[in-house]
Amino acid sequence: MHNPDIVAIVSEVLHSLTGVINESSPPFSYRNNEYALQLLNDAPVPLRNAADIMINILGSSHLNIRSSFSTAHMVQSPSDASLVGDIITSYLNQCSFIWEEAPASMELEQSVLSWFLEILSLQYTHQGLITSGGTISNLIALHLAKEKYPHRSLGKVRILCTEDRHLSIERAARIIGLSASNIHCIPSGLSQDQSWCWRKFCDEIEDSGGVPVSVISTYGQTGSGQIEDLELHKNIAERLGAWLHVDAAWGAGRFLKSMDFPYANILASADSISWDPHKTMSVSYPAGVLLVKKSQNISSLSVPSTYALSEASRAQDTGHFHLEGSRPLTAIKLWLNIKVMGLEGFRSHAKQLHDIALFIYDEVVKSDGYVPYQLPHTNIVCFRPKSCRYFGDVSLFDIRQKLFATGRPYFSTAEIEGQEYFRMVITNPHTSVEQFQSMLAELESFSSA
Ligand SMILES: Cc1ncc(COP(=O)(O)O)c(C=O)c1O
Repeated sequence: MHNPDIVAIVSEVLHSLTGVINESSPPFSYRNNEYALQLLNDAPVPLRNAADIMINILGSSHLNIRSSFSTAHMVQSPSDASLVGDIITSYLNQCSFIWEEAPASMELEQSVLSWFLEILSLQYTHQGLITSGGTISNLIALHLAKEKYPHRSLGKVRILCTEDRHLSIERAARIIGLSASNIHCIPSGLSQDQSWCWRKFCDEIEDSGGVPVSVISTYGQTGSGQIEDLELHKNIAERLGAWLHVDAAWGAGRFLKSMDFPYANILASADSISWDPHKTMSVSYPAGVLLVKKSQNISSLSVPSTYALSEASRAQDTGHFHLEGSRPLTAIKLWLNIKVMGLEGFRSHAKQLHDIALFIYDEVVKSDGYVPYQLPHTNIVCFRPKSCRYFGDVSLFDIRQKLFATGRPYFSTAEIEGQEYFRMVITNPHTSVEQFQSMLAELESFSSA
């Protein structure tokens, strides 16, 4: 179906979106879902009206990720380049499955992946796959790790990570036929001697005949944003002869901030690395990247077929290496975003977000009533009340829910080292220290003191 007005409608939609859902709106402005559904069910509607309904009703009854008060989750507002990329992707609607179907797109995908490899100076050692995000990247990585040791009995297989690994690790383990008993979670955080804990676990595994296939290092923990000790994890992986996977789905923002990001000198030792542009590069969902060492055999997902995937075209058909068959052309929006923002654009964006997190951390340190977790490695700041006099027996989670119901500041909570913390994820460069102070003032209104 072609509508001659489509370009005008798209530009109006983009224009209205920036008007209705702007930076200073609260995260939630309108939440009468019954009314919204009633209006939405009045079909059929001409395209222009449908677009208006979407913007005015759906747009305003959803979380406004553009709001600078919206600091609960790892959601970035997509750039204009990313939005335009989405439209082009839908318009072309090409499938990134076999080269024949979308030759230019496959080439584009490779060129985008080279960009990621160059940023990390891994172009000669690693290759890349575009995925739908960290969950699928982690799943493919764990599958490859397990496949590297095909003759090991599943019951003895061990995956080592910290307690703060993302939930997708356990999910991936289940999908590849393992269970919670195959995952050894080491406590992480300040209160533990990490090196001692990991070595103790290694001894136990070796003594019990366990077979470690993978060590996972979380580069930017989901709760606290902290970067784990990659050097220690590399040494452990080497000692055990295990696959080293770096889950940098979130922490990859640090790769962009500066060339001398933490552990830059040893990242090349990783067998695989997850990086989520949809969390770190102002790209809309879905956009994930998995980088895998060239020396590893990544074709273990490959299943030949007579209709598409053949031996003859093996190297060019990325369908061989992916879980998904039909895959959107995510490379278009990544390519556009890279060209429009450029490395300098990403650098200053990443720096700005991390700086805001550091300023807020300083503010917490200066405050009377709150104490921060650690100095933020990434743009997540966690803090908690100094004493229970503030909220009495009420959990921080309940306080957060009360705050959420006001529709104004929006942040989350996380359990770190057995303690509850408020958690702010800074994804908007307009979030300011002043706004943080006003958020604290809102918190005070729930105080029992
Ligand atoms: C460290 C880490 N890994 C993996 C994921 C999963 O990523 P996705 O939601 O893109 O599947 C997340 C999501 O928050 C994460 O924080």
